[in-house]
Amino acid sequence: MRLLLLALILSFIGLSYACKGNFNPYTTTIGQCGSTDRTDWLPTDNAPVLTPANLDPAELAVHEARMDHILAMGTALKRKFVASIYHQNGTLMCTGVNMGKPNIISHGEIVAINNCTELHGITVFTNYTLYTTGEPCAMCAGALVWADFKTVVWGTYNSDLLCKICMSNIPMDSAYIFGRSYGLRSSSTTLIGGVRRAQADAFFGSYCSNPNSIYYIQPKCACTPQ
Ligand SMILES: *[C@@H]1O[C@H](CO)[C@@H](O)[C@H](O)[C@H]1NC(C)=O
Ligand SMILES: *[C@@H]1O[C@H](CO)[C@@H](O)[C@H](O)[C@H]1NC(C)=O
Ligand SMILES: *[C@@H]1O[C@H](CO)[C@@H](O)[C@H](O)[C@H]1NC(C)=O
Ligand SMILES: [Zn+2]
Repeated sequence: MRLLLLALILSFIGLSYACKGNFNPYTTTIGQCGSTDRTDWLPTDNAPVLTPANLDPAELAVHEARMDHILAMGTALKRKFVASIYHQNGTLMCTGVNMGKPNIISHGEIVAINNCTELHGITVFTNYTLYTTGEPCAMCAGALVWADFKTVVWGTYNSDLLCKICMSNIPMDSAYIFGRSYGLRSSSTTLIGGVRRAQADAFFGSYCSNPNSIYYIQPKCACTPQ
C-alpha cells in the first residue's frame, strides 16, 4: 500500500515535470551547457499581471485617463487597435494605430514604436510605458520585450478577444512571452491588464455573428462556467 502511494506520488511529480519539457531537477545543470549536452530551456513561469485592484487609486486614475484617450482615438478613427507611449516623466511621446498599412504586421504597438523612433529618435524604451486597447499579441509582446518597455498596460485580454469576441489572434497570453525576458536581460516589464476593461471590451464589441469580417475567426477555446 505504502509502495503504491509512493509510486503514485512519484508519477505525479514525474507528470508535472513532463509538462515542463525535458527538465529533470535531479540531472539538469542550469547554466552554460557543455558541447555534448542536450540543451533545453529553463522552465519559467509566466510574468505576473497586475490588475486595477492591485493599484493605488492615484496611479490607476493615470492609467485610466490614458486608456480613455486611446479608446477615444479608436472610436474616432473606427479602428480597434490603438497604442500610445509615454515617457516616465508623464509626457505623451507618440501614438500608433493599426491601419493595416504598410502591411499586415503593422499592429498598433509596432506602429507606435516606429512612430516614436521617427519623431524622437528613441531606439530603446527602458523608461517608457506603452498603452494598448488590446493585450499585445505574441508578435508584439516579443517586440515589447526586445524594446525593453518599463511598463505595458492593456484594456481587453487576448483570451477574451479570441474566445468571446471571435477576433483572430495567436492563442497566447502575453505574460508567457514577458515571462521569458531573462534571455535578454535581468529586469522585466511590469504588466497591467484590464484597465478600463468593461469599456475596452464594449469598444471591441463582438464579431461572433459577423463571419465576413476580416477580424473574424471561429474560436476554439476551453470555456469554463464560473
Ligand atoms: C520628458 O522626457 C521626454 C523625453 O526625454 C522629453 O522630450 C520631454 O520634454 C520631457 N517632459 C518633461 C515635462 O520633462
Ligand atoms: C505619431 O504620433 C503622433 C503624436 O502622438 C501622432 O500625431 C501621429 O498621428 C502618429 N503617427 C502615426 C503614423 O501613427
Ligand atoms: C532611464 O532613466 C533613468 C533615471 O530614472 C536614467 O538613469 C537612465 O539612464 C534612463 N535609461 C535610458 C535607457 O535612457
Ligand atoms: Zn500585435
